Amino acid sequence: MVQSSTQSTALGIDAEQYYAGLDSFSVEPLWRNTDPRLLPTEPKSRAVPHVWRYDDVRAQLMTAGRLISAEEAERRVLMLINPGLAKKVETANNLYAGIQLVLPGEIAPMHKHAAAAFRFVIEGSGAYTAVDGERAHMHPGDIVLTPSWAWHDHGNFTDEPVVWMDGLDLPLINKLEANFFVDGPDRLQDESRPADSTERLYSTSRLNPAWQTWDKPYSPVINYPWSQTEQLLKSALDDWSGSPTDGLIFEFTNPNSGGPIMPTMGAYIQALPARTHTEAHQHTSSAIYHVVRGRGQTIVDGEVLDWSEHDTFTVPGWSVHEHINTENEPAILFSHTDIPVLKALGYYQERACPRQA
Ligand SMILES: [Fe+2]
Ligand SMILES: [Fe+2]
Repeated sequence: MVQSSTQSTALGIDAEQYYAGLDSFSVEPLWRNTDPRLLPTEPKSRAVPHVWRYDDVRAQLMTAGRLISAEEAERRVLMLINPGLAKKVETANNLYAGIQLVLPGEIAPMHKHAAAAFRFVIEGSGAYTAVDGERAHMHPGDIVLTPSWAWHDHGNFTDEPVVWMDGLDLPLINKLEANFFVDGPDRLQDESRPADSTERLYSTSRLNPAWQTWDKPYSPVINYPWSQTEQLLKSALDDWSGSPTDGLIFEFTNPNSGGPIMPTMGAYIQALPARTHTEAHQHTSSAIYHVVRGRGQTIVDGEVLDWSEHDTFTVPGWSVHEHINTENEPAILFSHTDIPVLKALGYYQERACPRQA
């Protein structure tokens, strides 16, 4: 204090006058920063653990189906907003999910965007997503990719409503201020390849088409069909117990690289055997889970999230979590994460923790 007053005499201003004057230069003194988030001892997500009940979301979506035409809504999607993220369009820190309804006869017109996206089909069979000239027909449990800058349109020419979960990297790409959106020249794309031909071409993960050249940073596979995923889970459940923290967990991969489906998002399917209680862990990546089958709980930083079929829930980054399958049948969870981003930047960390229950 003595020194400060000596300096104030010499400079003609005191410290408070100095601080008050800094605003006009758009600078702040780091030594006075009181925001613990700037250099935290460890990460603390603003996102909170949360479950979106499918029964509730579906009921609201069906009401929207009666009230709002597809033209009016353009995309009839209820976005899943994380209550901790101050009404931003964010489901987890870097990840977005929304539940979309496409009624019989409706289309979502052709467009493309820099944001990467996929669909996980919840209800309804036979609608399609066309990607770069190929229609991929969608069935419950399929994951269909519409990667960054790929032209896509959707259509439901069946006689039943189709519901799917959209997963996008919107929060991340918008923080990076790198997003673009372009409407297509037509409402629907011309079909330049036979429907579902890419799915047939990459029907086994061990045989890749050697004549295909592919220099894009995402998987060439459009549809990872549930029929194959389910078969794998069934046989693995007979033979293996899987990871202590995640049971029988498999990553959907880019067959060319063995890496994630897209540079910004990883996608996983996991089976928790009957009556399993996993070990707990924490990692810097966030996850959005969709319950494909079964019922159980995930304990996240001491909070118990009860989930059942088709619910969606989020586990924020660095939260301590463990999964419990409360039933006598396997539970199946689909999830998407920001692991590829954190790993690419060298920021992925994972740590085992004591169980919370
Ligand atoms: Fe899109
Ligand atoms: Fe985890």
